[in-house]
Amino acid sequence: MTVPSSLVCPICQRSLAKSDSSLKCELGHSYDFAKSGYINLLNPGKRNNAKTGESKEMIQARTSFFASGHYQKIREYLIELVKDYKKDLIIDAGCGEGYYTEGVAEKYPESTVVGFDMSKHGAEHGAKSSRAKGIANTFYAVSNIFNMPLYDECADVIINLFAPVPYEEFARVLKKGGYLIIGASGAKHLMGLKNILYENVYLNELNIHKNAAFEHICIKNLTYDIEIFGNDTIMKLFTMTPYYHHTSDADKSKLSVLSRLDTTVEVDFTILRKI
Ligand SMILES: C[S@@+](CC[C@H](N)C(=O)[O-])C[C@H]1O[C@@H](n2cnc3c(N)ncnc32)[C@H](O)[C@@H]1O
Ligand SMILES: [Zn+2]
Repeated sequence: MTVPSSLVCPICQRSLAKSDSSLKCELGHSYDFAKSGYINLLNPGKRNNAKTGESKEMIQARTSFFASGHYQKIREYLIELVKDYKKDLIIDAGCGEGYYTEGVAEKYPESTVVGFDMSKHGAEHGAKSSRAKGIANTFYAVSNIFNMPLYDECADVIINLFAPVPYEEFARVLKKGGYLIIGASGAKHLMGLKNILYENVYLNELNIHKNAAFEHICIKNLTYDIEIFGNDTIMKLFTMTPYYHHTSDADKSKLSVLSRLDTTVEVDFTILRKI
């Protein structure tokens, strides 16, 4: 684990420093690391109002599905996108269980890569996995990405995959000239899965990411087809999608008998530069 020097106290916004197994600010506000190595940096007064982020079940499904290797190309593509950027501090905003955070950190050991997620199960998995693999340049915290415990203009790169996009907060935290990379579902993403579940299937709309604080650099599209064998992996994929919450039991049952699924994977990466 690497504790970034740009962390601020969620209560008083003063600098946080490591002291034994906690982080403390000069006013004495203290945050303890969990045994697994993540830390909860939600403002204690606001924790009860906070949405809890992804459930343990969804986080575990994500981890199992990633282990099947079907999203490895997305991770490699992302790693390549940041290759030429200055990247001392990279923030993975809405990092989930840390698949992309960890991939980027492993590839770029000189960078500090911070994973923030509202789900403590996500932060916990990320921290455990880094420790198990001996990856020393990650830091995972439970945090609301609309209000991150970071100084203004401290980050070189923010990555944000399949998660909410708080432009103002990203603009506050990014250095001038820093990059924001947003990965979102492309038009035909998981079409094969949707075709099994629903009668009338539509293409996903293109997400146009624009904000006055950013210069639009480009949109890069990654599209490929996958064949998933085994119902367990198919169900893991389904469980980590938004469709999991919005599908009737009758439609879900169409998936539960499937032993092979062919589908397109399509991600649009929008790259913006902070002005
Ligand atoms: C669809 S998942 C994507 C996770 C990860 N980027 C990935 O692709 O595997 C969206 C994630 O955003 C997190 N999230 C949603 N709203 C958030 C917020 N306001 N602050 C922090 N995390 C949030 C959820 O807990 C969830 O882990
Ligand atoms: Zn404080």
